Amino acid sequence: MDLTLQVARKPLSGTVSVPGDKSLAHRAALFGAVAEGVSEIRGYPDSGVTRAMRGALASLGVPSSLEDGTLVMKGNGFKPFPNTGAAAYCGNSATTIRLLAGVLAGTGSSATLDGSEGLRRRPMDRIVTPLNRMGVDVHGVRGIAADGREVTCAPLAFAPARLHGIDYDLPVASAQVLSCLQLAALGADGESHFTAPGPVRDHTVRMLRSMGASITDTTVCPIAPDGRLRPLNGTLPGDISSAAFLFAAAAIVPGSRITVKGVGVNPTRTGVLDVLSLMGAKISLAGEREEMGEPVADVTLESSRLKGATIAGDDVVRAIDEIPALAAVAAFAEGDTVVRDAAELRYKETDRIAAIVRQLRALGAEVDEAKDGFIVHGGKISGGVAQANGDHRLAMSMAICGLRVPVMVSGAEILDESFPSFVPTLGALGA
Ligand code: S3P
Repeated sequence: MDLTLQVARKPLSGTVSVPGDKSLAHRAALFGAVAEGVSEIRGYPDSGVTRAMRGALASLGVPSSLEDGTLVMKGNGFKPFPNTGAAAYCGNSATTIRLLAGVLAGTGSSATLDGSEGLRRRPMDRIVTPLNRMGVDVHGVRGIAADGREVTCAPLAFAPARLHGIDYDLPVASAQVLSCLQLAALGADGESHFTAPGPVRDHTVRMLRSMGASITDTTVCPIAPDGRLRPLNGTLPGDISSAAFLFAAAAIVPGSRITVKGVGVNPTRTGVLDVLSLMGAKISLAGEREEMGEPVADVTLESSRLKGATIAGDDVVRAIDEIPALAAVAAFAEGDTVVRDAAELRYKETDRIAAIVRQLRALGAEVDEAKDGFIVHGGKISGGVAQANGDHRLAMSMAICGLRVPVMVSGAEILDESFPSFVPTLGALGA
């Protein structure tokens, strides 16, 4: 599908909401599958990646129903999945395969996890190496990652094994890796301790704790042999990663003022709001409350004159999925925007550093590529044809550039993976 947004003739304005948070949705379905009892989760998003998690769990013997945005499922308890030896397909979703890997390991399940061609290129050694150290019987295949390195990749085959707790310092600030290991550690025979080199999202700890697990950001105590996880009941916050594209769109179109209601504002995820204010947008939060142990607010963004900024260090970790949206804003800002310490972007749905640089250049922007980031020299973008490259976030980031200069995004159907209502929601804001 080719997507062209009309260049905006008036500011964006209005109040909208976005689908539930994908990171939380993945965890709610997965943890609901190993809880004892029936979980009911409202505001559950239906997109490619959340269908991947639900489909994989159904193949393992724990189906769920999704009606009017409410997910209902009966958990199997923290023990081996019913369908021994099943092959579970994780689509394009790295969160699905990496978190499910932790649960298969922790519950002593026997199964194989696989996914799309794109998922088979994502590096799995980052989970397989520490899982093996815990005693997990898991094997992958040798493959070539997007950046050309030879790494362990999916399919991943699991067999039951006895696990012991470990002390492990994560080499990368990855919530998927930390969550995988924390979930495996629930089934080990001793305590585990973890550190990460940055503020990774802490949804796993918050949610598991609400279910009765004994877990902190650094320590996991195994579930006792007679222990159980309580089922979940609650409403998911709106996805700040989807809202980011609406905020970026409003920042780009002069005079805009939009509100996104009920957005998750967990401090490990709000880097995008901090960077947008650094770039000149005015951001305010109202109606602050909690849903499922997560902070939620109605977030308003008012556009203002944009200036370049430096995005580095912990801000990169707190905005890792929003860098494509921020790159689009940078193209319309005055001066340079420098993104560094962001080498992790090379291991996402695509090599996002290379892809952002290539696609912004295709739209006439001036961009320099670095090993661990890029520099956008703002104000030079003129429009053109961009390729989504099989990356939902790249599709949306290039599409919003079209609100200021003529842009056609080719391959834009991929945005259904994460934010199927992206175009109508922008329409509701006047785009
Ligand atoms: C996620 C963690 C991040 C993020 C991904 C979702 C999660 O990945 O990019 O979209 O839900 O834990 P990494 O852990 O690889 O940084």
